[in-house]
Amino acid sequence: MNNQDTLIDRVLQNLLKEQAEKGPDLRQQHPKSHGLLHGEFKVRDDIPKQYKVGVFAKPHTYSIWIRFSNGSSPKARGCLQPDTEGDSRGMAIKLMEVPGDKILDDEKFTQDFILINHPVFFLPDVQGYIDLITFRKQKEQGNPEPELQKKLERTLAISEEIKAKIVGNPLLIQYWSTTPYTLGDVPIKFLVKPYKLEEPPAAKPDSPNYLREAIVKYFNDTEESVKFDFQIQVYVDDDKTPIENPMVEWKEADSPPITVAMIEIPKQAFDFEERKRYDDSLSFSPWHTLPEHEPLGRVNLARKKIYEEGAKHRRDYIQELLREPKPYLLIQDDPDN
Ligand code: HEM
Repeated sequence: MNNQDTLIDRVLQNLLKEQAEKGPDLRQQHPKSHGLLHGEFKVRDDIPKQYKVGVFAKPHTYSIWIRFSNGSSPKARGCLQPDTEGDSRGMAIKLMEVPGDKILDDEKFTQDFILINHPVFFLPDVQGYIDLITFRKQKEQGNPEPELQKKLERTLAISEEIKAKIVGNPLLIQYWSTTPYTLGDVPIKFLVKPYKLEEPPAAKPDSPNYLREAIVKYFNDTEESVKFDFQIQVYVDDDKTPIENPMVEWKEADSPPITVAMIEIPKQAFDFEERKRYDDSLSFSPWHTLPEHEPLGRVNLARKKIYEEGAKHRRDYIQELLREPKPYLLIQDDPDN
């Protein structure tokens, strides 16, 4: 095992331990969903020739599931962080009936794209993740190491920027992949921009689930579908558009976005129990992909095993719980206990 694999395994073991304690049937990151919606991903017919690769090879409309989420891990068993607290907001898109071999073989016909509502990620690499966990533990024990705090300065600053963002409705904000991918021969990042960009509200609503409620209300109040542009930014050079550090923004001035598809989400009902169960059981991964869109960089590499194992553990847990019921003491699904 090389050093990178050892680090990935440490992160994975830590995540699985937390998952077992705080929500074995939930994603350990982005567990709270504001809605799993159906829609369409319409590949444009005017994409420059050199970018007509993979799912963008020709104009086509794919059926999609699209999931909106909060980033934070469960706080305790059965207890998810309220929307009123600062958090990253995620968008995960799953194209279906996509032909061609995929890098992971657990899903044969899907292509996923995963984004958050900030241009940069708060970690440089897997070591950064381990440093952050160590630092948080030190803080809890009241003895944070100043050198580690210095090393994590940028990470902590980006986390604060992300938490400070006030989001009114997940359907009306922009999202970024933050990490790069290939598009045939060139590295790219991708962006999703709403047709209707909403100004952040002056203050957050009070409800702990206000983001889901905002989507329900939006669809109640309109007959129109929601539309987003799906855009790519192409690699320029290692200074302006580095591959290995997702804490560096690829600026639009350096790499102007090119629109390659449109996402359309029709008005719909989605806030019911069966959809929530389906939502919890799905697995989105950057590695559910055609090789033409292979994820790049060490952070993406780490996500391969971590997302796969995380999803496997929560799905195995649900099945095992149904196959062989367990006493309450082993489940403890009451958040107040
Ligand atoms: C080392 C870095 C990272 C780690 C350890 C990590 C860990 C995880 C885990 C464990 C999950 C849940 C997987 C599952 O059970 O299905 C997840 C989901 C997610 N992650 Fe990451 N992640 C990392 C980097 C990123 C980055 C760079 C982004 C930026 C786009 C991101 C955005 C998301 C989103 C939006 C989801 C929710 C997907 C869904 O809706 O199912 N993560 N992450």
